[in-house]
Amino acid sequence: MRMKKVYYDDDVDLNVLKGKKIAVIGFGNQGRAQALNLRDSGMDLIIGNIEDEYAKKAVDEGFKVYPIGEACRRSDVIMMMIPDEVQPEVYELDVKPALHEGKTLVFASGFNVYFGFIKPPANVDTVLVAPKMIGESVRALYVRGMGAPALVAVHNDATGHALKTALAIAKGIGATRAGVIMSSFEEETVTDLFAEQALAYGQLIKLGFETLVESGYDPLVVQLELYGSGELIEISKSILRYGLVGQLSLHSTTSRYGQLSRANYVINENAKVQMRKILQEIRSGRFAEEWLSEKKSGFRNLQRLTEDALQHPLIQIEKISRQTLRINVD
Ligand code: NAI
Repeated sequence: MRMKKVYYDDDVDLNVLKGKKIAVIGFGNQGRAQALNLRDSGMDLIIGNIEDEYAKKAVDEGFKVYPIGEACRRSDVIMMMIPDEVQPEVYELDVKPALHEGKTLVFASGFNVYFGFIKPPANVDTVLVAPKMIGESVRALYVRGMGAPALVAVHNDATGHALKTALAIAKGIGATRAGVIMSSFEEETVTDLFAEQALAYGQLIKLGFETLVESGYDPLVVQLELYGSGELIEISKSILRYGLVGQLSLHSTTSRYGQLSRANYVINENAKVQMRKILQEIRSGRFAEEWLSEKKSGFRNLQRLTEDALQHPLIQIEKISRQTLRINVD
């Protein structure tokens, strides 16, 4: 296997951003975490935000906050940290008019550029710095002297140093402490959406719950066994530490034999056929179109699906479990 290029702290020069003003557009999950990390890394930054609770939070945390258009005009590097489905309209209205030669546009997800919902002009560096981690942990890891790994990619290299700028941003948010892998907008978008859609842990747990409870077993005991005890988190950590197979040695021999001999009863080649369908809907742009039209309809399906999901008997049991057992979630 050909190894991809991986960048660490020593490979990257933060001075590329010296004298440059960075505008972080949005102060939500990623925006807040990345802004705090960049500020602690010595960067000069401002926040662009609509007037809402997020803007107030940014002010409370000591940032200068401007309307999005003005923040874009005032800066050299513009980081799009607002939800993917609102980015195209915000881009057209507030970001595009402020773009000119020499500026850099940074995305945390390849979604809009890869699917063509945003088409940045050729004279503007357009890059991707995508942390493979939720925002809260991007910040928490940085504070502990660590970092969340990230992917970087270049869509437009107008200046000839777009990658250097992307890597400097990656270093500023702490990602090069863990390692930053050279990727592409397509690779990041497709693999990210696929992982979200195909690894439906929640669905697996729900089906397991239904199977056992319908066979007469106590719902609280079943919830505890499937994930309520926190063992699932520990297993996930062990997979990271020791590998998918290596972690099996932490389980009893009975468990090990049971897991390995029954592994493909549920998740098997049939699942792969469905996974290919998910992949095909992503690559063809069908999912992306559906998601943007979902936004246009006021998220009607998302709301209905969430309400349906909350009707599952497991949700009641989760509440009872939280009231009954003292589970450490730190
Ligand atoms: P978020 O949902 O936390 O964004 C909230 C921010 O968006 C707030 O500042 C809010 O004022 C602003 N906002 C919301 N609606 C707006 C509108 N109509 N016009 C202007 N501003 C609006 O977003 P999140 O989850 O941080 O995602 C930002 C980007 O980071 C996306 O591209 C996402 O794919 C990417 N990403 C997110 C990760 C996560 O942990 N949530 C992980 C990796 C990448």
